[in-house]
Amino acid sequence: MNVRPRPAAMPATMLAVLFALLLPLGAHAQAKPAEAAAAKPASHPPGAAIASAHALATDAGLDTIRAGGNAFDAAVTVSSVLSVVEPISSGLGGGGFFLLHDAKSGKDTFLDAREMSPEAATPEVYLDKDGNLDPDKSENGPWSAGLPGLPAALVELASKHGRLPLSRSLAPAIRIAREGFPVYARLERGYASRSKVMERYPGTRAVYLADGDPPKVGETLRQPDLAHTLELLAAKGFDGFYRGETAAKLVASVNAEGGKWTAAELAAYQVRDRTPIRFKYRDWDITTAPPTSSGGVALAEILNIVSGWDLQELDAAHRTHLLVEAMRRAYRDRTIYLGDPDFTSVPVARLTSADYAAGLRAGINPDKATPSDLLSGKPAPLEDDETTHFSIIDAEGNIVSATQTINLLYGSGLVAEGTGVMLNDEMDDFALKPGTPNAFGVMGFEANAPKPGKRMLSSMTPTIMASPTKVAVLGAPGGSRIITEVLLGILGYDDGLSAQQVAALPRIHHQWMPDVISAEKGALDPETVKALQAMGHTVNAGEGSWGNLQTVAWDRIADTLEGGTDPRNPVGKAAVLERAIQSAP
Ligand code: DON
Repeated sequence: MNVRPRPAAMPATMLAVLFALLLPLGAHAQAKPAEAAAAKPASHPPGAAIASAHALATDAGLDTIRAGGNAFDAAVTVSSVLSVVEPISSGLGGGGFFLLHDAKSGKDTFLDAREMSPEAATPEVYLDKDGNLDPDKSENGPWSAGLPGLPAALVELASKHGRLPLSRSLAPAIRIAREGFPVYARLERGYASRSKVMERYPGTRAVYLADGDPPKVGETLRQPDLAHTLELLAAKGFDGFYRGETAAKLVASVNAEGGKWTAAELAAYQVRDRTPIRFKYRDWDITTAPPTSSGGVALAEILNIVSGWDLQELDAAHRTHLLVEAMRRAYRDRTIYLGDPDFTSVPVARLTSADYAAGLRAGINPDKATPSDLLSGKPAPLEDDETTHFSIIDAEGNIVSATQTINLLYGSGLVAEGTGVMLNDEMDDFALKPGTPNAFGVMGFEANAPKPGKRMLSSMTPTIMASPTKVAVLGAPGGSRIITEVLLGILGYDDGLSAQQVAALPRIHHQWMPDVISAEKGALDPETVKALQAMGHTVNAGEGSWGNLQTVAWDRIADTLEGGTDPRNPVGKAAVLERAIQSAP
């Protein structure tokens, strides 16, 4: 990262006083440039900014900062509130990746809180009697769930990086779980599409059918058991979730539904502290997700390939063609080489090298599509987005870029009885049957085969990009499409777009298999579609929208902060807090 550390750290008490004076601005607001905007880049931001997929999470995170917390404390708040108000997307029963930049030391840290495979989950469990992958095992219920990682990440964030007690940062989530929040359209729609699976389980019925019928827009969803689970986490830290009462209930519920978890493997869960991927694209230093994510490697590969051309000079058809050819090659490598680095040796240095990209670039015909081997695989249009991303920057220049998930809509559908915790269905992200596409149409082989204690490959790509004059933080949900959403966001910032324009950018995607360019309605004009078809591409130009990108950016020359929230999600919010005292005469 190219963010200069603040010259001297400010004591916490002084910060608390300063932050008491922070003024909230509206969503997508931009702080006013300081009077004499220096030509010299500012050493720290003029306030704080948060973008997340739910206004309650953004607002609670800003409150944590007002109370004297830093970006890492705010991340605990935002993450835990999202777990409560977006049970469709992420939660204590899932996992996530947290990319952190510590302004004082200049150090970047990547917390890998991905779920781990339980020991009993061998590949045979997921096959039907004919030897085919059985989605009812890989996507629903007890066998689809990996051992959760998110609670351990919250504990680590607070204890190693934050300055407020875990109990303070979790307090808003506990309150909202107990008092409830208004059901919004995505929750109602998601429930309707998953109700058959969800209503199999007594723990799930107790949450979602508490008033006798499914959640409806405008009703209040209360989760008292989840509030209690969060309180145990707040009071006892790691042991409050992974040992004792909560752990016993999680294991009992999974096993009662026919799965097999043990208390010992839950208690052995560990967050992994990994070295982020770093590379340069034009003026930008990009810091992003290493394996167990495939995102950073794929991003580096794609941007290294296209750095051989000036994309800004190209017409839309050629720009799209070259991006797609780079995507195709990166997703092919994802399929073959990527997996949990604790179990498989991932050739990260080679895949992200300039030489490797140059070789791939040489194989790209600037006017003709390279057909991917025609294998089976169907496009996986996403009408709703599960998984969630949030971006935070504080007035010291600390940064959090975090993506968390329970995988598909409402994860496994299984709420462990008495905990309020919706378990993930992340096991579907393993290559459970080699060469068979998963719910996102991506497949894998040995590198991503399930093994006891192994983490399943992810596409989540929390990213920070820094040029000498600007810092931007971004990420998104969307399964295998996450990587290309982030890619287009990076290119948007490089094109000079605002944070809000970046969040709203129309999306295109290619993932090697199926050999199709997916494009949101209106993302490619008819002429461009025709030109791409003439080059040999298959274009699916009318797909529904996907993604939910949340981003914040700091312009170090104008001394401004801004946030962008994806307009596809009406309940998201980006907000900036200006440190009023700084602009006072
Ligand atoms: O980790 C992954 O790549 C997936 N489990 C993320 C799932 C996701 O983004 C679902 N949203 N559409």
